[in-house]
Parts: sequence; C-alpha cells; structure tokens
Amino acid sequence: MGAKLLCLCLASALLAYYLYTPLPEDIDEHWKVMLLDASSRTLWHMAEVVDKLGLMDRMEFLMLFLSADYVPPTSDENITVRDTELSNVQVRLYLPRKPSDGLRRAVLYFHGGGWCLGHVGMQTYDQVSRWTSNRLNAVVVSVNYRLAPQHHFPTQFEDVYAVTKFFLQRSVLAQYGVDPDRVCVAGDSAGGNLAAAVAQQLLEDPEVETNLKAQALIYPALQTLDLNLPSYQDNADKPVLSRSLMVGFWSKYFTGDPSLREAMAANRHVPAEASHLFQLVNWSALLPAELWGHHSYRAPVPGSPELGRRFPGFLDVRAAPLLASAARLRRLPRTYLLTCQHDVLRDDGFMYATRLRALGVPVTHHHARDAFHGVFSFSSGPAQLAVGRRLVDGYIEWLQENL
Ligand SMILES: *[C@@H]1O[C@H](CO)[C@@H](O)[C@H](O)[C@H]1NC(C)=O
Ligand SMILES: *[C@@H]1O[C@H](CO)[C@@H](O)[C@H](O)[C@H]1NC(C)=O
Repeated sequence: MGAKLLCLCLASALLAYYLYTPLPEDIDEHWKVMLLDASSRTLWHMAEVVDKLGLMDRMEFLMLFLSADYVPPTSDENITVRDTELSNVQVRLYLPRKPSDGLRRAVLYFHGGGWCLGHVGMQTYDQVSRWTSNRLNAVVVSVNYRLAPQHHFPTQFEDVYAVTKFFLQRSVLAQYGVDPDRVCVAGDSAGGNLAAAVAQQLLEDPEVETNLKAQALIYPALQTLDLNLPSYQDNADKPVLSRSLMVGFWSKYFTGDPSLREAMAANRHVPAEASHLFQLVNWSALLPAELWGHHSYRAPVPGSPELGRRFPGFLDVRAAPLLASAARLRRLPRTYLLTCQHDVLRDDGFMYATRLRALGVPVTHHHARDAFHGVFSFSSGPAQLAVGRRLVDGYIEWLQENL
C-alpha cells in the first residue's frame, strides 16, 4: 500500500513538474497556456522518439496530428470557399459574395509551421482567412505550398512566389474583380518569412506588372545567421516554439542532414567567407537597448566552409530577407510587423523594422508584450486565447485601413 502511494505521489510530482513551466507574469490565461505548452512539448517529444527509432520523420509524425484539425472548404452566406490550383500550386480561395461598389482588395496568405508543417485547411488558418475576407470584403488566396522534409528550400519559396506572380497578372486580377493597386502579401512565422522574401523578389522581376500595396509580417523568421540573438537566448524555452525547435525548422528547410542542425544549434554554421554578412544581423546596432537584457554583443564563431558549400540556402536572401541590400529594401511597400515579447523570433522582426524605417519604408510595428510565438493559431476553436483573437483583430484592422 505504502509503495503504491509513494509511486502515485512520485508520478503526480513528475507530471506536475512536466506541466508546470514558469510563465512570464504578463501572459494571461496562465493555466490554459501551460496546458497548451505541455501538450505541444509532449507531441514534440513523441515525434523525437518516433524519429530516433527510425519509424517516421519527426515532421511527418507531427503533420499526422495536425491533420486532425483539417476543415474542408466550406462556403457560407458571405463567402465562396474552394480548393483549387493556381500555377500548379494548391490554394484555398475565399471569394466574397457580398456586392462590392468597385474592384475588391486581395490578400495572398502564407501559413506558418516552420516550412515543415501546416495546411490551409487547419481550422485556425481557415478562420483567419474567413475573417479577413469577410471584414475587408476581399479575395483571400491562402497558399498550400509544399513542405519539408519531402521538399527543401527553395521549393516552399518558389511555390508561394509562383502563385503570387500568377495572381498579379492584370488578366487574372480582372477575372477575380481585384484592384491591382490594392493587393498585399501576408504570413505568420515561416509564412512571414516567405511573404517578406516574395515582396523583395517581386521588385527584381521584370515580368511582374503589378506592385504590391503592402506586406504584413506576423512574427516572421528573417535570418539564419545568428541563432543566439537576445530573443533566442531569453526565450529558448518559452511556450510553443523553443530554440531547439526553431533550429530544427531552420535546418530542415535546407536539408535532412543532421550536421547542419548540430552546427546551427551551436551557432557555428556560417562559414568565415560569409562573416561580412554578420553586420546585417548585428543586434547591438539594430535592436533597441531595452531588448539587450544582460547580453553583450559577440559575433557568431565561423563554422566549417563545407556547410556553406553544401547548403548554400541558409545564406540566400530568399531564405533570409534580412540579408537584402539597402537598395532592395528601400523599394519595399508599406509594412505591418507584429512581434511578440516572449518569442525567439522577436529580434528578427525588430531588426527588420529598424532597417526598413532607416530606409524610409513606412512601417507599422506592433510589439505585443503579453504574447508568445504562434498566437494566431490560438485565435479560435478550443485552444482560443484572448491575446490571439486580439492580435488577429489588430492585423485585420491594419489591413482595413492600409490596403
Ligand atoms: C456574414 O456577414 C454578416 C455581416 O457582416 C455577419 O453578420 C454574419 O455573421 C456573416 N456570416 C458568417 C457565417 O460569417
Ligand atoms: C556590431 O555593432 C557594433 C556597434 O554597433 C560594432 O562595434 C561591431 O563592430 C559590429 N560587429 C559586427 C560583426 O558587425
């Protein structure tokens, strides 16, 4: 009896220890966030085990879980929703039914999920697109780009780029009743990375005849060079996106080879030949002092030249939009940037805001002090958090006024 009781006490203590992660004071709905975080950690650990046993790639395992969240394209009284292909890439289209006085606005949306996970049919992404389409009376094109580990960089980028370029043709915009002067790209997390890269690349493409009106970047990943920024260090174990998970996503974007993941985890992946690029992600020059914390700047230690040769993608501006030249950044459209205080990617967003503003690009930077990474995915459904709903509303409100 005593032994059983002892076992029960030990098991409860272990469970409590596992569930309980100290959360910053300013995060609301503490218990709910703790549960969400514990579930996501459990899933991640299970994925690690399955991967280590050689049963399945960890990302494919996680994708299986996410597919439970799938909703089919469902029209309602306000919008016609349908899955189709544009330029041979799967998309989900949201077409408003309400009459419009003139041409409509359009948003091309790229979901998050570390270039490995996610789907346009996930309930929360579907809901964000519905709200956007409804509130703006706009056409929303949500892109189901191909994912790692089956596909590596630049496939993800090329898919979203192909759809955007196709959609921006005058004849296609006319077919959907869209005003060529009121189109934007938007995305969260890895999708924000893709949106930033697409907005830059369009500027260089002589075949593109329509300029974007805006870009909206929701807690985007923008650089691979320094994975020890203050935000990476201070938020290494905050809810939903840990540093090790982000390193896993970054490396998986380029390769399944674990050597890149290990080098990135040690922040020793950039070859010495590329060390001149460190100035573009130098946080001591680009971050406001209030975010420095107790850190003092040290440039990352250069890694083996071989990694840079084998996986040149991580030094490519299409993967790391912060590496773009001033001449390129200067021409970007009006920008909305959302960053969250308790997020490894916080400083990527801050540094991009600093660079764009210095070059005269109009930037609305909304920094949410009470939020952690991925809150757009907690804006509806059973895992809904007030902060998620509020930040989605803020984003749509900005589009309403600026697109
Ligand atoms: C359709 O739009 C109206 C007016 O904006 C709104 O009240 C209603 O809730 C919308 N219906 C759905 C299913 O979203
Ligand atoms: C980073 O910026 C600081 C000051 O802003 C400067 O002293 C340092 O040399 C820079 N280092 C790199 C690698 O750019």
